[in-house]
Amino acid sequence: MSHKLPKINPTQTAAWAALGELYNAQKDWSMTDLFLNDPMRVNTFSASTGGFYLDYSKNLISDLVREQLLHLAEQVQLKQAIEAQFAGGLINETEGRAVGHAQLRNFTQMPQEVAQTLERIKSFVSAIENGAHKGHTGLPITHVVNVGIGGSDLGPDMVCEALAYYKNHLEVRFVSNVDGDHVHEQLKGLPAEQTLFVIVSKTFTTQETLTNAQTIRTWFLKQAPESAIAHHFAAVSTNLDAVGAFGIDSELVFPMWDWVGGRFSLWSAVGLSIALSVGYDNFESLLRGAHDMDLHFRETEFDHNMPVLMALISVWYNNFYGAESECIVPYTQYLSKFVAYLQQGIMESNGKYVDRNGDVVNYQTGTLVWGSTGTNAQHAFFQLIHQGTKLIPADFIAFKACLHGEQDHQNKLLANCVAQTQALMTGTQGQNIESPYRVFTGNKPTNTLLIDKLTPERLGGLIALYEHKLFVQGVIWNIFSYDQWGVELGKKLAVNVLSALESSDNSSLDSKNNHTNFDASTAELLRTIKE
Ligand code: F6P
Repeated sequence: MSHKLPKINPTQTAAWAALGELYNAQKDWSMTDLFLNDPMRVNTFSASTGGFYLDYSKNLISDLVREQLLHLAEQVQLKQAIEAQFAGGLINETEGRAVGHAQLRNFTQMPQEVAQTLERIKSFVSAIENGAHKGHTGLPITHVVNVGIGGSDLGPDMVCEALAYYKNHLEVRFVSNVDGDHVHEQLKGLPAEQTLFVIVSKTFTTQETLTNAQTIRTWFLKQAPESAIAHHFAAVSTNLDAVGAFGIDSELVFPMWDWVGGRFSLWSAVGLSIALSVGYDNFESLLRGAHDMDLHFRETEFDHNMPVLMALISVWYNNFYGAESECIVPYTQYLSKFVAYLQQGIMESNGKYVDRNGDVVNYQTGTLVWGSTGTNAQHAFFQLIHQGTKLIPADFIAFKACLHGEQDHQNKLLANCVAQTQALMTGTQGQNIESPYRVFTGNKPTNTLLIDKLTPERLGGLIALYEHKLFVQGVIWNIFSYDQWGVELGKKLAVNVLSALESSDNSSLDSKNNHTNFDASTAELLRTIKE
């Protein structure tokens, strides 16, 4: 079997044509009718795996649509694509790299370098926790600051927040934005002699992270001698030369690999802040839960395969119903950063307009992903989902058990979650309502993902579920999900803009100058900033 991704235009498949016909014939169907025709529909339109239960019956999907979606998965050779990824094929073709984030948690057959790194993380975390690793004045470390951006920030920050219940005594903070006010707010009240800074950058060239790291270094050296850096700065990177030049002791440098994309890296040493926040054992549980989901994804037939089913449903709405966005609503405040994390994962991966043959696509690709936690979201944007003019498929994520034992709150939380999906499906159908303003048309699709309890294992599984979902979508859309060239142009232009901003010579901003780097709008903005 070739370890490359197939390059099949999905619109050329027989399944795509059949789906188009089904859409034309069925698009006006109501979900309530689907349930009337098949009251046991939920048995077919659900799937489960260790602690996860997915109910996807409240979707505009008939048996025939489901069957053709599954055919589509076969006809774009999804099975082969999944194997190509797990076998280490260079499926990130535009960068010539393998895609190995699942190897970082492959406890069945772990690569040696990964196992060794986990061992290093384990002993470092325990030395920080038990005070064996001390600050330069001999005091134990009490605070940790993760300095990174994008994948070197969003994943660790989201997971630390999500697992707050499992936290140890260390206080963990995050600095990401190049906005100097961000770093200074995070430095406020920090005891320099008891703080560990973890500089996380796969490339160690990222402007934001290096700028923040330098500012922190300068702040630190106002309170400590140069020799103290070795006690207080750690790094995670593939770029060991640049890390060395920054002055970080090689003992405290943790590796990254080019076969791990930034947005999929929290399972690697990029997750060091997670391990420091909740202890190594919980970090390993997170990885083990993800590994369980990897096995489910790799081994389960597509008709019961959660990531595959969720991806197919999303493709159905995106490409046939013309839905532009997807809403994700976790019913737990612990997941308040989950959607922002997924936005990078999904939109950086699937926001592509060129297919794997190098041709411009003539169909829609990546969805816009948005959302926030329930029940808060109900009092914010739900109005538009219920009564707006756009079709917005939504994922409702809920945990059966709460963590602090407030059963009364938990019942209300779950009741709201379930009531919303019911309201979205049935609306006020069958009721005699006089005011048009009070009518809910219903027929709004939702998936409900019920998980037994928010543990590190389940969180790992949940993140892996969405990682695999986005990969399946990318395979179907025939795009390369694992590169991110779209973020490069702005980075490059920012260098020119910065030098114009910092220059005392304003000739490059003169619109009469034909050699100016800037269009008239950009030049005017820069002139206005400099006034
Ligand atoms: O700008 C996008 C990006 O390259 C992301 O893909 C990545 O997660 C982030 O920047 C940070 O990159 P690095 O870890 O190399 O600093």
